[in-house]
This record gives sequence, structure tokens and C-alpha cells, in this order.
Amino acid sequence: MTGVGGRSEAPGGTDAALLAAAIAATPTGIVISDPALPDCPIVFANPAFTAITGYGPDEVIGRNCRFLQGRDTDPEAVDRVRRAIAASRPVTVEMVNYRRDGTRFWNELRIAPVFGADERLSHFIGVQHDVTARHRAEEGQKRARRAADRANRTKSDFLATMSHEIRTPMNGMLGTLSLLSETGLSSEQRAYAETALRCGQDLLAIINDILDLSRIEAGMLRLGEAAFSLADTLRAVLDLAAPAAAAKAIGLSVMIDPALPPVLRGDAQRLRQVVLNLVDNAVKFTAIGGVTIRADAAGAVADGTLQLRIAVIDTGIGIPRAVQARLFRRWTQADASIAGRFGGSGLGLTICRRLVKLMRGAITLESEPGHGATFTVTLPLAVAHTSTTIPPEGRILPTPTPMPAATETARGTGQGARILLAEDSRANQIVAAAILRRAGHVVTVVEDGEEAVARAAGGGFDLVLMDVQMPRRTGIEATEAIRALPPPAGRVPIVAMTASDLPEDRDRCLAAGMDGFITKPANAATLLAAVTGTLAASTPAVSTDAPPPSGLIDDGVVAEMEAAVGAVRMPQLIAIFAEETESRLARLGQAIAACDRATIAHLAHGMRSAAGTFGATALTQAARALEQCCAEGNEAALRGAYAPVPGLAVASLAALRARTTSSGQDPTGS
Ligand SMILES: Cc1cc2nc3c(=O)[nH]c(=O)nc-3n(C[C@H](O)[C@H](O)[C@H](O)COP(=O)(O)O)c2cc1C
Repeated sequence: MTGVGGRSEAPGGTDAALLAAAIAATPTGIVISDPALPDCPIVFANPAFTAITGYGPDEVIGRNCRFLQGRDTDPEAVDRVRRAIAASRPVTVEMVNYRRDGTRFWNELRIAPVFGADERLSHFIGVQHDVTARHRAEEGQKRARRAADRANRTKSDFLATMSHEIRTPMNGMLGTLSLLSETGLSSEQRAYAETALRCGQDLLAIINDILDLSRIEAGMLRLGEAAFSLADTLRAVLDLAAPAAAAKAIGLSVMIDPALPPVLRGDAQRLRQVVLNLVDNAVKFTAIGGVTIRADAAGAVADGTLQLRIAVIDTGIGIPRAVQARLFRRWTQADASIAGRFGGSGLGLTICRRLVKLMRGAITLESEPGHGATFTVTLPLAVAHTSTTIPPEGRILPTPTPMPAATETARGTGQGARILLAEDSRANQIVAAAILRRAGHVVTVVEDGEEAVARAAGGGFDLVLMDVQMPRRTGIEATEAIRALPPPAGRVPIVAMTASDLPEDRDRCLAAGMDGFITKPANAATLLAAVTGTLAASTPAVSTDAPPPSGLIDDGVVAEMEAAVGAVRMPQLIAIFAEETESRLARLGQAIAACDRATIAHLAHGMRSAAGTFGATALTQAARALEQCCAEGNEAALRGAYAPVPGLAVASLAALRARTTSSGQDPTGS
């Protein structure tokens, strides 16, 4: 007998009858066909072939094996077989075949050329194996997986929708509680209101985590892509984490490699979320020492892309090796050993890992118990041209794009701004209107988009705060209608207020002609910052007569100071502070122009310390950021850090003066 499946000879002296018996007993189908005959017909078929196909040897000998094929046979598999046979090569395919009774089966077919002693092609051998059962099992598994995926998506959709729905009433609840705690309450009542507010805020943080994770899992999270300043982004993290670090008297600093390009492209908001989460955790677990954010490049810039590396280094309690592996897994919180370390929903690190993965990056952890921990995020980001304008979404706060002045705005006239508030939720109307009125603005409330357009058409507003989901006309439709109005009514700045923070929703708002975007629930500081920012951007001249934005001054600190020095001395102290601040500002401006780091650091330090004494929180933070920047940042970062300082100084002084005036004191101290 000739060799089978290759060029080797059959073992010399093998008994032909034994080989025939073995082939007859083989439990897989075997056929031999002869390529020397027309259409390569079958010349031999074993009993297993009959068992699999239902065709007896007499019915198949002399026919080409293709008669087993039918409607569901994959033509591509047949083509592979055809090409292998033409090239005298072995081939393995799986294809649908049909039995004699017409039923389908999956045939795992292996064909090999058989060469004669003269090394010429003599026959083909085909081995058939019925793998229908395996296919059925695989199909079943696939179906189950698809069903599970569908169920998971439905669950995630449900969670995403519900979380979104929950945020709207939460907005009303938190706003009302915050207003309540500012009314004349007994200390016991205030403690209750503040506890309720804190719990509400914790709940909101958990809802946000769930919303994020379900969005990621449902594949609904779209990353933004815009130019952003890395220094701005990290400074925002610093600002947000600073109060917690200060409360524990630990250090918090950022070190940016000056060699890093100042403007990158990517999703700054998500990057900030990741770093903030890591910094928050680090602060929580550091009792002595501090937390440092270090940013540098993990490799050289290639194809305009850089591997950005951000390490969050703490001197805290460290994390045992056994716990590290479990740390990024979902619901790790259930593990009591870590529950203490990571408060909240326990989803923070999982979200960080998923977000970083979405950004095509990686996150690693190095830690030893007692020796702190370092979380390192590495991700590829495109380098933007230094002259690139940073769009609003690339900035830290919802800073609106500047637009030409619509009317003589509040800042220009020195009066409170005339704000049209379009919001259908009663609770949200009350909260937002109260916050705005308290800050000195004049508020007109409308309940739907139709009314908003009608009122805006009448003119006389400096700003419109526009809810997005409203009856009759959505905020988007109303904005488009307002933008179609002739100036000045059609040019009024519009800031969106929405419970959604999806980038596509934000894009829709901006595309409709809105100038800014705030996500509900917005606290007083965010709301007022958006209003003040928009008004400032829409007015060329900045007047110091503007109503002071709230959140500038920590009333508690001022009250303590008053108690310590006596109310009568306050105006005098404020006058001294004002004089010092103005002098520092003038020198700071010169030092910035000369990029004189030592002088800037000295002046910023002085300003920080004085502002802290007077409870000028925002100014303290800005001065601190400027001071830190002197040691760590490049020139662009330095200028960026300086930018908010003069405005905040002027506004803080105005707020402090207004405070003493309203309490019956003469701010001049005379
Ligand atoms: C030895 C041998 C066994 C084969 N066994 C099968 C088989 O079990 N089922 C099948 O669909 N095709 C089988 N074929 C493939 C077909 O006979 C044929 O080569 C294929 O359909 C491609 O050629 P065609 O385009 O001329 O049909 C076998 C071919 C050879 C040479």
C-alpha cells in the first residue's frame, strides 16, 4: 500500500489485510478518491463514513464527495478545499453537510494528498468527523453570552437612566438643604441640616460613580477630545483636594516636568476625575507627610503623541501586597480590610482603571505597608500646538466662550445682573433663584422653553440660565430660537443647566449657540462662578462694583477674627489688608512680566497667608497654586496660575468691605 498523508512509505512488511481491517474499524469516516479519474471520484469509503452520512459504499463510489454539500454549506470552506486539492496540500475545514435522509450535520473534514513510491500524487484521503454536538454546545454558549450581554446592557441602561433621573430631584434636595442651613437655625437644627446635606452629597457621589460605571459598561461613555492645559487640570485637582489636605495638616503639591508640552489633546475632565480620585484616596490615608502629584513624560514624543505619566505619591499607611491585586476589582469594597482605606461606593478605583483603559493607558500601584503608596497612570496623549486655543470644555470650570457684549451688562452698570432662569422643576427654580438673588442678581423665572424665548425676545436680560429638558420647547430649541432673534436680544449669553454631563449633550448645547454649561446638581459656588464668568466674558471692562460672588469668603473665619479682635477693629484691619494686597498685586504684575520666580513666590506666599487670615478662601488657593507653580511649573503654567489672582483679590476685598458695611461698620475705619 502507498503512504498516506505525506511522502513516507507505508511501514515495510505491514500486512495489507490488517490495514484494511483497521480502516474498517476506525470510528471516523474515511474516503479515498482518485485524482487520475475524471472529477476525482471516491474509490473507497469505510463503514464509519456510512454511519455518519447514511450512504452505503455502492451509493458513493464513483461520485465526487461534493454531493454531501447543500444550501447551508459555506462556499468559502468549499473554496479552501478546492484550492488545497489543486495545490496537493493538506487541509482542515468545518462545513455543513447533509445526510442521506436530508438532515444537516457539521463535518470536520481533513483531506491529505497521498503520494506514490515515485513521489507523484496518487490519491487523496478524506477523514470525516461529525462535530454537530460540539457546534450545538458552542451555539448555545454564544446565545447565552449574547443574552447575558443584552441583559447586562439593559441593566446598565436602566442604571444610567435611573441615576440620571435621581440627580434632578437630588439637585432640589441638596440646594434646599444648603439654603436651609444658611437660615437662622439653632445650633442643633443647623447640625441636623448640615448632616443631611453631607449625607446627600455622599449619596450624590455614589450615584455619580454608579452612573459612570454603568455608562462605561454599556459602552455609552464617549471620551471628549480637545486641547487642554495639563497645569490647569492638575491645579484643579489640587484646588479640590486642598481643603481635605489642609484639614489634616498634610502637604499637597504638584510637580510638572517643565519639559512637558503645556497643551495636550484629550479628555481633560476624565483625566482630572482619575487623578482626583487617586489624590482623594491618598489624602485620606496619609496622616503625616503629604501627597505629591508628579507629571512627566514616560517616553519621547513620537508621531506627535506623548506617553504622559502622572504619579500620585503618598506617605500614608501603604497597602499590603495581598490586597493590591484585588484593589482595582469591582466591589472590592466588600473586603473589610480595604473598606477602611477606600470609602464611598468602592467603585472609584474600578472607574479609574476603566477610564484609563478607555484612554488606552494603564494604571499601576507600588506600595509597601508603612511606606506609602504610588499610583501611576500612563496614557498616550497627542501634543497640541502651543498656540492652540483651549476650548471651554478643555478648561477646569465651565468657563463660557467670550462673546460680544449683548447689552450693557451688570458688571458694566455696577448693578446685579438681570437673569432669565428657564427651569421647569419647582424645587430647582426656588434653589437657583434664591442663590442668584442672594448674590444680588435680579431673577425672572419661566417654566418652559416657549416662555423663555418670548421673554428673551423682549430683551433686557444680561444672561439666560437654560434648563435643557423642558416642556413645550427644549432648552436646545429655545436657544436656537433666541439665537435667531435680532441683536441685542439674540446675543444674550446663555448657560445650559442640565442633569446630564455626557460630552455629546454638552456638544449639542454649544452647537445650539449656548456659551457655557453647568451640570446639575450645581452648588452655589458653581452656579455663581458660571454666572460671573459668563458676565465677565461678555463685558470688555471689568468693574469692581460687581456683586461679590459667594464662596469667596469663609464667613466662619471672619466671624472668628471679629470675635478675637472686636468688631470695631475689623474695618481698619480690612483696610490694611486691602492696602497690602493692592501693593502686592502691583509688584506681582511686574514680577510676572519679568518672570522673576523668587519675587513671585515671595509675594504669592505673603498674599496666601494674609488671605487665609481673612478667610478669603479662593484667593488663598489661587495664591498657593501660584506659589507652588514657582517651584514646579514652566512659564506658561506660571502665567496661567497668576491669571485668576488679580480678579479674585479685587472681588475678595469687595466682599470683605461689603460684609463690614452691611454689619454697620465703616470700612475705612474712620
Ligand atoms: C478525499 C476527499 C474527501 C472529501 N470529503 C468531503 C466531504 O466529506 N464533504 C464535502 O463536502 N466535501 C468533501 N470533499 C470535497 C469535494 O469533493 C470537493 O473537492 C470540493 O467540493 C471542492 O471542489 P468543487 O469546487 O469541484 O466542488 C472531499 C474531497 C476529497 C478529495
